[in-house]
Amino acid sequence: MTTSAAVIDDAAAYARAVQDAGRAAAAYYAGGTSTLDDDAYDRLVRGIAAWEAEHPGQVLPDSPTGKVAGGAAEGDVPHIVPMLSLDNVFSAEEFTAWTVSLGRRIGREVTRFHVGPKLDGLAVAARYSNGRLTRLITRGDGTAGEDVSHAIGTIEGLPAALAEPVTVEVRGEVLMTTAQFEHANEVRTAHGGQPFANPRNAAAGTLRAKERAYTVPMTFFGYGLLPVPGTTPALTERLDTSAHSDLMELAAGLGIHTSARTAVPDTVAQDPEQVLARVQEIAAARADLPFGIDGIVIKADLAADRQAAGSGSRAPRWAIAYKLPAVEKITRLLEVEWNVGRTGIIAPRAVLEPVVIDGSTVTYATLHNPADITRRGLLLGDHVMVHRAGDVIPRIEAPVAHLRTGDERPIAFPEHCPRCGSDIDTREERWRCAQGRNCHLVASLAYAAGRDQLDIEGLGQTRIVQLVDAGLVGDLADLFTLQRDQLLGLDRMGETSTDNLLAAIAKAKTQPLSRVLCALGIRGTGRSMSRRIARHFATMDHVRAADAGAMQQVEGIGAEKAPSIVAELAELAPLIDRLTAAGISMTEPGATPPATAEAGPGGDGTAGAPAGSGPLAGMAVVVTGAMTGALERLTRNEMNELVERAGGRSSSSVSKKTTLVVAGEGAGSKRAKAEQLGIRLATPEEFAALVAGFLD
Ligand code: IVH
Repeated sequence: MTTSAAVIDDAAAYARAVQDAGRAAAAYYAGGTSTLDDDAYDRLVRGIAAWEAEHPGQVLPDSPTGKVAGGAAEGDVPHIVPMLSLDNVFSAEEFTAWTVSLGRRIGREVTRFHVGPKLDGLAVAARYSNGRLTRLITRGDGTAGEDVSHAIGTIEGLPAALAEPVTVEVRGEVLMTTAQFEHANEVRTAHGGQPFANPRNAAAGTLRAKERAYTVPMTFFGYGLLPVPGTTPALTERLDTSAHSDLMELAAGLGIHTSARTAVPDTVAQDPEQVLARVQEIAAARADLPFGIDGIVIKADLAADRQAAGSGSRAPRWAIAYKLPAVEKITRLLEVEWNVGRTGIIAPRAVLEPVVIDGSTVTYATLHNPADITRRGLLLGDHVMVHRAGDVIPRIEAPVAHLRTGDERPIAFPEHCPRCGSDIDTREERWRCAQGRNCHLVASLAYAAGRDQLDIEGLGQTRIVQLVDAGLVGDLADLFTLQRDQLLGLDRMGETSTDNLLAAIAKAKTQPLSRVLCALGIRGTGRSMSRRIARHFATMDHVRAADAGAMQQVEGIGAEKAPSIVAELAELAPLIDRLTAAGISMTEPGATPPATAEAGPGGDGTAGAPAGSGPLAGMAVVVTGAMTGALERLTRNEMNELVERAGGRSSSSVSKKTTLVVAGEGAGSKRAKAEQLGIRLATPEEFAALVAGFLD
C-alpha cells in the first residue's frame, strides 16, 4: 500500500518539485482546481522528503514537508490555536512504528486510541458564541484563515444554534456527499459554470465563493472542540481534560454532525492490533460510503497522553493519518462507445487512457445515458477525474475543466441503433433500439438460457449464434418448438448433442415462474426482483393481470418502476402467450396468488416456505464471500433461492434489519458491517446444516 516516491536526483529537480508541490497545494486548497491527483501529490512529497533526508543542509523554506498543508491560501482571521495538519502512514508496519515512537516519547504505552474516518474535504473552524454560530474560518496557512462566514446556513450538520448556549470552537471537515456533488455540478453547469472535478474541489470552491446566484448544500463532520476566549472556566477545564471520544459525544449532543451515525462511526481501540482491525473495517466499507474518505485518523484518546506527546509545528504527535490508496485519478477521455444490451438499451461507455487506480488498470468507465453526458458537460479529449473503489465499476466524476486545451470535441450521440441501424426510442433518459430485445437477440437468448435463468445446458453463445443465423430461432419461444431434424442439420450437431440439447430445453419448461420472468429480461427486474414478483403473484396469469397499483404491492417496486414493468409485460404478451402454448410452467411452487393469500404464505411477496414454517422463517439473510462444502457449487442466485425456500428473505446489503449473514471465504465489507452491527454470522457449513432439508 506504500505510495512510491517520485525520483529526484539533483538540486534543480528538487527545486522544481518543491515549486510543483506548492502550486498543486495552492490550487488544492484555494480554488477547487487541482493540477495533480492525490496520489501524484503524495508521491512528489515523498520524493522531496527523501531528497531532503540526504541533503539536510539544502532544504528550501517552501518545502511542503516543513509546513502546514494548505499554507498557500491567504487568510486574515487569526486562529486561536494553530490548525495543524497530520503526518501520514501508508501501511500497518509504518503505523506500528509510529505507535512505538509515540510510546517512547511519552514514556509509556498509549492508554487507548480513538479511530475514525479521515473525511476528504477541507478543514474549517466554526466559532460559536453563547450557542450561536458567529464565524466560519478556513484553515489557511494554519495560523490564520479566510473568513467564509457567508457559507453559514448552507452546511448541513453545522447548526446556526447549538443545543446549549456555550461559547466554543468546533473544528471539522466540510465536504460534499456524492449526491450533493452531483447536484452542485448540475446547478453549476445549468448556470453556465464549469463543473467541479470532484466533491473535494466542489466543497473548496463552493465554500469560498461569495456572490453566487445559487447556493448548494454541503456537509460538516466535526472532529474537534476547543475553548476560545469567552468559554467558561468549567467548560475550558472539561475540554482540556476530556478523552477525545467524550469530546465527540459532547459535540454530537450539542447538535454537531459527527461520524457517529454513519456506516463508519468513530470507535475506541485498546491497542494497535485493534486499531489495525478497525482500519481494515473502515477500508472495506469505503466503497459503499455516501461521502469520500481518504484514510483513517488515529488519535491518542486520553487528554493526558495527548498532552504528554505534544505537537510539532506542522502536525500533532498524538495523531496520525493512515492513508488509504487513492480512488481517484486524472486521465483522458479518448472515446465514447455505444453498446446495445440484451434488452435493446443503448448505453454509452467511456474509453479512457489506461490509468492504474489502487492496483488495477482502468480502461473503461460507466456513463449512464446521453443526458448524463450532457449534464456532466463532457467532451472528447477531456481530462477527467475517474473514481474507482472496491468492485464498483469505475465512473467519471467530472471533466477537469481547467486542463482543457481547446482541442476537445463534442461527443456525438448516435442517430440510429449502432447495432442494427433501426430508429432509436429516445423518449426515456435511457435510449433504446426500436427493435427492443430483438435487436440483440443473441445476447437476450444467452441470458435467458443462463444458469440463473432457464439453465439450458449446452446452449451457449456459439450455439445460439448458429441457431439464429440458420433462421431457426427468432425469439425465446422458438427454442421450445425446435425439431430434432432441424438441429441435426446444423454444423457440429451430432445425435448425442442434439438429444442432449433437446432434453435440456424440455427440462427448462419446468423451471419456476421466477426464472421464466427473469429470462424474459424485463428492464429493472433482475433475479431477486423476479423472485419477489413470482412469489407475490404465484402464477403468470396473476402477474399479467396486475395493474401498476397491484404491482406496487411487491416489496421494492415503487411508483416509478411499477408502470414500466406493467408496460413491458404488455409488450411481451405475444411472446408469453407462445411460451405458455409451448408448455412452459408458469407457476411458482409454494406460492399462493394474492387474492387467496391475504394472511397466508407468500402473500407479502417475501416468504418462500409457508410463512412461519421454514428454518429461516422471519429472517432477513445476506450471503457474502465464497461458498464452500455442500454449498460450494451454488451461484449467488441459487443461494438466494435456497434462503427463500427455507422461509427467509434474501437481501444483498447488510442493514439493521438483517438477521443473519452467511459469510464465506473472502467476505469483506458486508462481514465487517455485520460485526459492527452485532448481526449473527454463520459459515457456509453452519448455514448448510441449518437449511439441510431444503438443499436440492
Ligand atoms: S483531526 C491537528 N480527524 O485531515 C489536526 N482530522 O490531512 C487534527 N481530517 O487537517 C485533525 N478527517 O483537515 C482529524 N477525523 C479527522 C479528520 C481530519 C479529516 C483532515 C483535517 C486535517 C487533515 C490532515
